[in-house]
Amino acid sequence: MRVYEKRLDISKHVADLQKQNKTIGFVPTMGALHRGHLALVQKALSENQVVIVNIFVNPTQFNNSEDLVNYPRTLETDIKLLSNVSSEIIVFTPSAKEVYGAQVESITYDFKGLEREMEGKYRPGHFDGVGTVLKHLFTIVTPTRAYFGEKDFQQLQIVKQLVVIEKMAVKIIGCPIYREESGLALSSRNKRLNQKQLSESPLIYKILKQVKEDFGTKSVTTLNKWVSEQFENNDTLELEYFEIAKTSNLKSIKRKQENIKYRAFIAVFAGEVRLIDNIALN
Ligand code: PAF
Repeated sequence: MRVYEKRLDISKHVADLQKQNKTIGFVPTMGALHRGHLALVQKALSENQVVIVNIFVNPTQFNNSEDLVNYPRTLETDIKLLSNVSSEIIVFTPSAKEVYGAQVESITYDFKGLEREMEGKYRPGHFDGVGTVLKHLFTIVTPTRAYFGEKDFQQLQIVKQLVVIEKMAVKIIGCPIYREESGLALSSRNKRLNQKQLSESPLIYKILKQVKEDFGTKSVTTLNKWVSEQFENNDTLELEYFEIAKTSNLKSIKRKQENIKYRAFIAVFAGEVRLIDNIALN
């Protein structure tokens, strides 16, 4: 399997692929790969002639320096996992300097207000960091298609906006959320959960499923209150936010209307580990 660290080296390989008119599927990750990532890779392999997986813990998207330090890094295992899927996969594991050059900083984006909702509100600057790193990576990799999980549904909408703003030809493909048998959404951060947190975190998806079931008959205010109550007196999980929002613009709602698609979004702390999840409601 080819593993590149230098921008120049992967750029040469990409130029070669372009000359041969090969379609390139791209799976950008921050490593600590799990089944969800591997499913994105499988989908990319089924739809493209070549697949490039990026592994890079992007500093500019962390608004909390401890979170950046503690983010799991398992490069050797990640490369083994990928080579078990296919030895044809190309891996790019750059340093920050290779991605950004001398100035490791974000561009300020206007994603039509998407960046100010939910994750954007609670993690200021996060989406500027995501947008900036992807702009650099898409420039280097020149993918035909790029694959993102719906666990980060807001990120997926923002990336679709990014490629419009940056006039990039890449097609952005969203893929369903992969879950543990317990219902817990797969996330690299799950590796940091202790046994108690791991056994209690499936409550997050149970709550989302109940909200979906009750969405037709109960008001948004009643559902918001019910969700908050589920975390009262819970000494393992702390609710950061729960919002029911329009799927189209991610604006949180107080009352639902006919013929509009909605989703519920949640962020919860298990100790210092931040978990997010979401579900389509109708
Ligand atoms: O979803 C992620 O892992 C990251 O936000 C991404 C898209 C790889 C950008 O660093």
